[in-house]
Amino acid sequence: MFEKKSVEDIEVKGKKVLMRVDFNVPLEAGQVRDDSRIRAAIPTIEMLLSGGARLALASHLGRPKGQYAEDLVMDPVAERLSVLLGKKVSKLNSSAGREVKTAVEQMSEGDLLMLENLRFEKGEEENDSAYARELAEPFDLFVNDAFGTAHRAHASTAGVAAYIPAVAGLLMKKEIEELSNCLENPQRPMSAILGGAKVSDKINVIKRFLTLADNLLVGGGMANTFLAAKGHKMGASFYEKDLLEEAAELIKEADESRCRLMLPVDLAVTKELKPGSYSEVMAPSDIDGEWKAVDIGPETAALYSGQLEQSEMIVWNGPLGVFEVPPFDNGTEIVAEAVASSGAYSVIGGGDLVAALEGLGMSGEISFISTGGGATLEFWEGKELPGIKALQDK
Ligand code: 3PG
Repeated sequence: MFEKKSVEDIEVKGKKVLMRVDFNVPLEAGQVRDDSRIRAAIPTIEMLLSGGARLALASHLGRPKGQYAEDLVMDPVAERLSVLLGKKVSKLNSSAGREVKTAVEQMSEGDLLMLENLRFEKGEEENDSAYARELAEPFDLFVNDAFGTAHRAHASTAGVAAYIPAVAGLLMKKEIEELSNCLENPQRPMSAILGGAKVSDKINVIKRFLTLADNLLVGGGMANTFLAAKGHKMGASFYEKDLLEEAAELIKEADESRCRLMLPVDLAVTKELKPGSYSEVMAPSDIDGEWKAVDIGPETAALYSGQLEQSEMIVWNGPLGVFEVPPFDNGTEIVAEAVASSGAYSVIGGGDLVAALEGLGMSGEISFISTGGGATLEFWEGKELPGIKALQDK
């Protein structure tokens, strides 16, 4: 249930509004490579502008660690937004202080500007109260639409809310509603697919789905850690040696839970991870020497697909192989096709996987694609996210 105030609950006409967005988008040769996070914020931007707000957008881009970085300025993002909106977006060279104050004073209703990368300032990640106050100073209202950054307690996600009223944007609201729906109203059978490199990043979300889902399908590097914990040698495969005990414990927890934990029964292996390199399919027990597991095998993909076809709800985070190095995207692709054709209500989170599905032209078949990566995982773990906590209650 969504219990926070949103832009739908307030009057914005004439107000000077600071809107936090997550425009932390991938860049390539100085251009935005994937603008899905920018597109996702447009409904809130348009609603505020047509409602007569004077709107300033603020985001981080990359991890410049409190220092100016020429390749991380917001200009390419502002340009892309301007094209998408068909409207001028003035870009400032600072995120707080005199330049912002003057520019905001001069704005008319329906004007839009973009502040500079918030993480050029040390105070942002430190959630420094002086910086948060400076951010808030020119504005009457704070709108947070940056679900993807809601797991960070930074000045622009949490601190600023101490100085001006803070409400959710439409994307923030939709993300919370969709992601909580999976936790609160699981449609059964419910299958969770978890991939990506590390078990260590996902222990709490694994535990959560072991109590909630009917099936937990594991792939990616994290599957290797589970297989090693079951006693397979795994050759030269990547796995987390210091996580074997924890993985064995999770397997035991799964045995005692309602959930069926499914691990790969075969894997695509190679000795050299590069596009088109020679590979074989092996059972986990046969992987030794220089062989590295880099994708789920065809039997596993078929087994997982069969399970997904019978599911009513599917949640998915993380690719099932090294999908950026073809042909080791095969497993992710076959499973994505099964999700798309299952008819199940499907929710996907995590930047890597979203990019993989966009590349495969399958993102349109998914019921909801979260803009969050780490934020989605922490939400599913059941953590209270600082960026949500800071918003006013209804
Ligand atoms: C993300 O891409 O997950 C968010 O924008 C948060 O970025 P961060 O991990 O650098 O805080």
